[in-house]
Amino acid sequence: MASPTRDTDPRAFIKSFGCQMNVYDSERMGDLAGQAGYAEAAGVEDADLIILNTCHIRERASEKIFSELGKLRELKEQRGQMGRPTMLVVAGCVAQAEGAEILRRQPAVDIVVGPQSYHRLPQLLREARIRPGVVDTDFPAEDKFSQLPASRLDAIRRRGVSSFVTVQEGCDKFCSFCVVPYTRGAEASRPAGAILDEIARLAGAGVREVTLLGQNVNAYHGVDRHGQAIGLAGLIRAAALMPGIRRVRYTTSHPNDMSEDLIDAHRDVPALAPYLHLPVQSGSDTMVKSMNRRHRVADYLDIVARVRAARPDIAFSSDFIVGYPGETDADFDQTLALVSAVGFASSYAFKYSPRPGTPAAEMSGQIDEAIKARRLAVLQELIEDRRQAFNRATVGRRLEVLFEKPGRREGQLIGRSPQMQSVFAEGPRSLIGALTVVEILAAEPHSLRGRIVSPAS
Ligand code: 5AD
Ligand code: SF4
Repeated sequence: MASPTRDTDPRAFIKSFGCQMNVYDSERMGDLAGQAGYAEAAGVEDADLIILNTCHIRERASEKIFSELGKLRELKEQRGQMGRPTMLVVAGCVAQAEGAEILRRQPAVDIVVGPQSYHRLPQLLREARIRPGVVDTDFPAEDKFSQLPASRLDAIRRRGVSSFVTVQEGCDKFCSFCVVPYTRGAEASRPAGAILDEIARLAGAGVREVTLLGQNVNAYHGVDRHGQAIGLAGLIRAAALMPGIRRVRYTTSHPNDMSEDLIDAHRDVPALAPYLHLPVQSGSDTMVKSMNRRHRVADYLDIVARVRAARPDIAFSSDFIVGYPGETDADFDQTLALVSAVGFASSYAFKYSPRPGTPAAEMSGQIDEAIKARRLAVLQELIEDRRQAFNRATVGRRLEVLFEKPGRREGQLIGRSPQMQSVFAEGPRSLIGALTVVEILAAEPHSLRGRIVSPAS
C-alpha cells in the first residue's frame, strides 16, 4: 500500500492467517487496495476496508473466522454510527470453501473472494459499494498473476532483504486429509519470464534472497520465454543467475516430485540454500498409503539420502500429522523412529483435523482427541530435541549469514544461516543484505548467537 498522504485518505487493514502463500497474497491485496486509493491502516479500528485472508487447512478455521466477523460487525456498526462506513472482505480458503454461506451467516460481510479471483478486488470494491454482498469464488480462465500490478517500489522495499515469489499454485495430489486441491484448485504454473521479471524488480529494490513459493512447488512446470518447457530446477538456475540475488529457496515440496534434475541443482547451484522442507506426514507405510501420498517411507528415506549425497550440508524439515484415522501406537512409533533416523533440523506436527469433503473425514477409526493430544506432545518434544541438537552442532562453526534487519538490542543484527537458523550478532547496519561469515558462539533456545568474522561479500 502507498504510505498515507492525508488523514482523510481511506485506509485498509489486512489480516493474514495460515500459510506463506496467504502472506504473499495479502501483500498483493495490499498493493491492489493501494491502487484503489487505500493507505495502510494501523489496525482494524481505523480501517475503512478490512480484509481477512483466511486459512482452511486445520482446526475449526471457519468457526474462528465467524467469531472474528461477529466482533468486526460490532465495530462496523459503531463506525457506521460515526458516519464512517467500513467495507468487510473475507478472502482466502474459507471464502472459497464456504462462499455465499458466509453472507448468510454474517450479513455484515460485503465481499467474499476466493484465492483465485482476488486480482478482481478493485472491481469487486466498486460493485460492493453499490450493492453489498458480492461473492467471487470462480476459478477464472484468465491468469490471475498477469492481472496483478507490478508492485510499486515502496511496497517491495518494505519486504526487505528476503522475499517470497509465487511460482505455482494449487495441487492435484489429493492427499486424503487435505482441502487444498478443493480450495486452491488444480496445479497451475506461472510462466518463467513473468517470475524472473518479478525477481529482477525485487533484486532492484534490495532483495537478496528469494523463496520460490507454491503449494506443490516442485511440481512446477512452466514455459520459458521461448515457449520451451521449464521445471523448478531450470527456474532455480535462472533465478540464481539474476544480478543481486545471492540465495534461492523453494517451498513446499512433495517427495514424488523430487526429480533427478532438482537433486542435481542442489549439487550444482551454490546459491540454492541447503535447506529442504519435504513433508512426509507419517513414518508408517500404512498411514502414508491411507493418506494417498503414493510413496513408501523407504522412498522418502532414499530421496533424503540422494539429496544429502548431492549437498552434504543440507538440512531437512517436514510436516507430520498425528492421530490420522486408524493410527495405532505402532504406527505412531514408526513416526518417532523416522524423526530420529532423518535428524530433521526442524519440523511441524499437527493433530489430524477432519476437513469436511475430504475422504479421511469419512473414514472409520477416527482417533480420540486425548490420544491425539498425547501423541502430539510426544512428537513435538522429540522434534524440539532434534532441533536443538542440530543447532548445538553448529557451535564453533562458521556459517554464511544473510543479515535481514536490526536485532532487538542496540547494535545487533538478525539474519538467517543457509540452513534457515535464526542468527544474531553485533554488527553495523551496513551489513544488512550482505552475506557475512559468522562464527557461532552459542545455541540459544530460538536462535544462534555469533560473532562476525568477515563480510563475505
Ligand atoms: N489435519 C491436520 N493437519 C493437516 N495438514 C493439512 N491438512 C491437515 C488436516 N486435515 C498439515 C499437513 C500439511 C500442512 C501444511 O498442514 O501436515 O503438510
Ligand atoms: Fe495437500 Fe497433499 Fe497437495 Fe500438500 S500435496 S497441498 S498435503 S493435497
